[in-house]
Amino acid sequence: MQPLRPRFITGIGRLAVTEPSTDILPVEPVSTLRDVWLEIDDGTVIRIGSEGEPVPDVEVDTSEILDVKGRLVTPGLVDAHTHPVFVGMRQGEFVRRCRGETYRQIAAAGGGILASVQGVRSAGEDELEELILRRLDRFLELGVTTIEAKSGYGLTLKDELKSLRALKRASIRHEIDVSPTLLGAHVIPPEYRNNPDRYVALVCDAMIPRAAEDGLAEAVDLFLEEGAFDLRQARDIFTAGREAGLMLRIHADQFTAGGGAQLAAEFGAASADHMDRTDDAGFQRLAAAGVTVVLLPGAVFFLGLDEYAPARRIIDSGCRIALSTDYNPGSSPTQSLPLIMTLACIKMGLTPHEALWAVTMGGAWALHRQDRIGTLQPGYQADICVWDADDVDVIPYRYGDMIPAHVLKKGTVVARRGCRIGM
Ligand code: NIG
Ligand code: FE
Repeated sequence: MQPLRPRFITGIGRLAVTEPSTDILPVEPVSTLRDVWLEIDDGTVIRIGSEGEPVPDVEVDTSEILDVKGRLVTPGLVDAHTHPVFVGMRQGEFVRRCRGETYRQIAAAGGGILASVQGVRSAGEDELEELILRRLDRFLELGVTTIEAKSGYGLTLKDELKSLRALKRASIRHEIDVSPTLLGAHVIPPEYRNNPDRYVALVCDAMIPRAAEDGLAEAVDLFLEEGAFDLRQARDIFTAGREAGLMLRIHADQFTAGGGAQLAAEFGAASADHMDRTDDAGFQRLAAAGVTVVLLPGAVFFLGLDEYAPARRIIDSGCRIALSTDYNPGSSPTQSLPLIMTLACIKMGLTPHEALWAVTMGGAWALHRQDRIGTLQPGYQADICVWDADDVDVIPYRYGDMIPAHVLKKGTVVARRGCRIGM
């Protein structure tokens, strides 16, 4: 029987230590230690052996030792951008896109985000909670131990708060740590089409203060794009979010460049996401303001587009990057961060080490949790993935296939080979 709460992880062939101490992606983002062990106490990493050092001769029962038999160990993955509060999948739109329609044409014809709004509005809170729980299970099985999660398919005060409450209830019942975000400003709902500013006022004057007062959100997000919200409205929403004491996030420059980088820099946002069409001046502003750029190559890939964010130039401009799934039923229905790492390597020119840093430390920075998660060092949470691999490069190399052999959350083994355990 393998232990559920090991005190020691032994037989680590390679331990990938992501560099936490700098706030930009470091030149050497991951160092690897060979032939080491790691000690856990009360859900926290307390000691790591030096290379080749024998396991300490302390009184431990074999049931407290997890021998990983030469495998690779990395920090648990951190997904800094997900939309898990929805009801049905939208594979019908996928088929329409396969036949030549575009995502934006489908959205303009009433599909897209609005199709998911109908589902959330007619769902009960319990139903949403159960759906979210299943999705959290899947994240865990795939090695993700912390996520950021957005509302954004309710678009009324009642339905956005219902979405955030369902998220909170699910996260209380689940091992994954969830950083919840209010995305009331996802698109203008149909009932406000003729008066979008009234909807922005609802977001600013009611949704944001209520979500903050009720402790339902840590951040506010919005979609700055033609057909969604404009720069003036985005400024109002950021102002309200800042007044409520919430972190700020933005979906920007996904299809058209719209000044989102400058706005995110001016407000000191926690993250600026997508940024596929941002110019160099925008990235320089984000770097100077310390905003994490969350890259979402899965959405570019799945929408059949070819304009990926210029990751190399972004890094060279001094920006810190994270890589995330953008998990949602329209533009990116995958929950696999290893697959996103592959896309980042092939389509954006990241190295596997940079990609691993971006799905661990980079994600932690985007959530402002870089002091607790994202690396494995004494004092950090024992959120751990064990992989059937001898080095980090194998994770993006075996594209679409990588599922951890073991996943530990705060020191407890919660998944083995793609199957949840302990629930
Ligand atoms: O991040 N850009 C806006 N929102 C999502 C897509 C949501 C959907 O299609 O349901 C995104 O890609
Ligand atoms: Fe998104």
